[in-house]
Amino acid sequence: MTDDVLLTATTVVSANAPANAEAEHPSAHLSVLLNETIDALLAGRDTGFYVDATFGRGGHTRALLARLDANSRVFAFDKDPDAQAVGAELVALDPRLTMIHASFADLKQQLANHGLTHVDGIMADLGVSSPQLDVAERGFSFMNDGPLDMRMDNSKGVTAADWLMEIEEADLADVLYQFGEERHSRRIARAIKLAGRMETTAELAEVVKVAHPKWEKHKHPATRSFQAIRIAINRELTDLDVFLPQSVECLVAGGRLAVISFHSLEDRRVKQFIQHEANASIENTSWTPMPLIPKNKTLKKVGRIAPSDAEVDANPRARSAWLRVAERTQEAIQ
Ligand SMILES: C[S@@+](CC[C@H](N)C(=O)[O-])C[C@H]1O[C@@H](n2cnc3c(N)ncnc32)[C@H](O)[C@@H]1O
Repeated sequence: MTDDVLLTATTVVSANAPANAEAEHPSAHLSVLLNETIDALLAGRDTGFYVDATFGRGGHTRALLARLDANSRVFAFDKDPDAQAVGAELVALDPRLTMIHASFADLKQQLANHGLTHVDGIMADLGVSSPQLDVAERGFSFMNDGPLDMRMDNSKGVTAADWLMEIEEADLADVLYQFGEERHSRRIARAIKLAGRMETTAELAEVVKVAHPKWEKHKHPATRSFQAIRIAINRELTDLDVFLPQSVECLVAGGRLAVISFHSLEDRRVKQFIQHEANASIENTSWTPMPLIPKNKTLKKVGRIAPSDAEVDANPRARSAWLRVAERTQEAIQ
């Protein structure tokens, strides 16, 4: 792969997930860019310690374990108790796997808890899993009515129903605009606050639908608002911003970082972070003219990959995915 060259993936879907698994089982998840991610992460290796920052249903973890030797280990994070339950079954079958019920924003501390400072590769497949979206009880979906929840970790924190009661109208409008790129954020925020307490996703979807003045083709009018509220409740972008620098600190020289994102808010962050780390520079880190701090290159760009047409045909959720890959440099390259 070369810098910023668009490569088209050849793989269709996970070997362990039939193409129609999602339709048949609402708790199934088709892993996106599966072989491409593992190939990029391993870069020819078959041994080492690796992190899957977003276990989900374990598609990427399983594929990684299948390629690693007996001395290797995989540490898999997920906030979601349902993902942890699936992971626990896999741990019973494969002791090379360790499940960590925590945010990937705690990467460094959690690895330290397991006696590790560095690993050989880190992957993250950002956002929500198919089961989170498809199981109505999780409360993420405007298509399947369920309790207005939207928490990835539904063992703690504030549900969407409570959050919408607590937030001020102006702040809600900012969230809808910034995290959903919703152009009618003010009008929708006003309608949501006027509606008062809502208990179900269908109620919220209906309020947004009625308030929305301009429906986009092939898109439910609540799509952007649901995305925005979900991102806010789960602190998705904040976690990503905290995770990225830690991931570099936790990689050995030559170790790879592979991140799949699904919308421009995530992808822009990953891209800009890799660009920043791939450039040596002299930075003025304070308002005073001196001192200027030299910053070393910590990452080398490896490339970005989009799913093939065949993968998008088989799994429409892959259509907006981008995989970005970077490699930890040797220390102190100026
Ligand atoms: C797209 S799914 C991952 C799917 C997985 N790669 C697979 O093949 O099954 C994203 C997962 O990441 C989890 N997640 C999202 N943000 C997280 C965070 N900050 N920390 C830990 N897990 C997170 C979600 O709960 C979800 O299960």
